[in-house]
Amino acid sequence: MRDVAIIGTGEIPVDEHWTTGIRQLMLEAGLSAMRDANIENVDALYVGNMLSGEIAGQSHLGALAVDFMGLDNAEAFKVEAACASGSAALRVGYMAVASGLLDLVLVLGVEKMTDTSGQETTAALAAAADAEYEVSQGISFVALNALLMQRYMYDYGWKREDFANFAITAHANGANNPFAMFQRPISAEMYARSPIIATPVGLMDASPVCDGAAAVVLAPAEFARALSPAPVKIKASAVGMAPLAVHDRKDPLALRAARISSQKAYAQAGIKPEDLDFFELHDAFTIMAALSLEAAGFAERGKGVQLALDNEIGLKGRVPMATMGGLKARGHPVGATGIYQVVEAVMQLRGLAGANQIPGARLGMTQNIGGSGATVITHIFETMS
Ligand code: COA
Repeated sequence: MRDVAIIGTGEIPVDEHWTTGIRQLMLEAGLSAMRDANIENVDALYVGNMLSGEIAGQSHLGALAVDFMGLDNAEAFKVEAACASGSAALRVGYMAVASGLLDLVLVLGVEKMTDTSGQETTAALAAAADAEYEVSQGISFVALNALLMQRYMYDYGWKREDFANFAITAHANGANNPFAMFQRPISAEMYARSPIIATPVGLMDASPVCDGAAAVVLAPAEFARALSPAPVKIKASAVGMAPLAVHDRKDPLALRAARISSQKAYAQAGIKPEDLDFFELHDAFTIMAALSLEAAGFAERGKGVQLALDNEIGLKGRVPMATMGGLKARGHPVGATGIYQVVEAVMQLRGLAGANQIPGARLGMTQNIGGSGATVITHIFETMS
């Protein structure tokens, strides 16, 4: 197996891109990553996407992307793992380069969620849950997370306002990210006053519906320095799984897949959680941020919220998270999210995160969750300069 590096990144602002088609979003992010990598061709292009078939009536994104981007000689296809589709595509690209089968791979994440009504998009998102046993009961993703949050508050005695700092931190960081959907800070009062969507989840506990695309270029680490002035090594790539339906999990608050995926990644990288300079976690909902911190080994069971209350999740805290706004403020264009996380991690490791730069960052982790915790994909990155 060969070591794999990221030699280029690209992203477009997360927003409501009503006048831009999905092919254009892929083109802009993909070409921007290839320009950054200083290359004109790739051996393969893998696209992480969840909803294009359901919402835009457009499947077959691999063929669409290589055609529109003029990458005629590249093999290409879409990779789907619900909200973890972006990281799943990265994992496929990583395996292709690590195995020695391919040298240059472009990994794209793209999603367009705002061309349909809220009701249609919510129904399409729910397809990531168990259609026969969960969705048939009328469950949505907000509702599933509301059930988890309610249970967590009941088991551990937390109140809704104890989660506020997850949203406040994400929005504060998003304020300095020109690619973020929301670029304004929020206060504790704004969190408290925000409307409830599904008790106890409020507007400020949830990530927004949005559009976006992001891309990275992979190459063998041995050639990376010749191609890029600031390559970043993929030190670990790991997947964990749990039952699809929440009610089939022995312990729904344990995020088994996140624990397995994190532990595999730490073992591959030969590190402990405390060695990491930052953690780009999957804060689609504030409850997911709390559960992820626990599953990844940063807090004991039931204590993830305490890290937020103690301000340990800010840029100067013990576990900086959502350093460019996270899913909450940068936005969560579902199949693209995993690649946005990686683009931001690379930015931190190259020292290009501007006002949000973590001084001397050398080691960072991204974690992307599919569904309510059934597929969890973790990557660890290290600076090579
Ligand atoms: N956080 C902060 N502000 C938000 C927001 C969010 N998550 N979502 C919307 N807003 C703001 C909008 O910017 C808008 O502000 P404005 O009036 O100043 O322009 C206002 O709230 C209303 O926006 P709208 O688009 O009408 O919201 P909505 O009520 O249709 O949708 C949610 C809000 C939270 C229901 C929707 O974003 C949602 O379903 N989120 C979860 C998505 C999801 O499940 N993803 C998969 C996770 S695994």
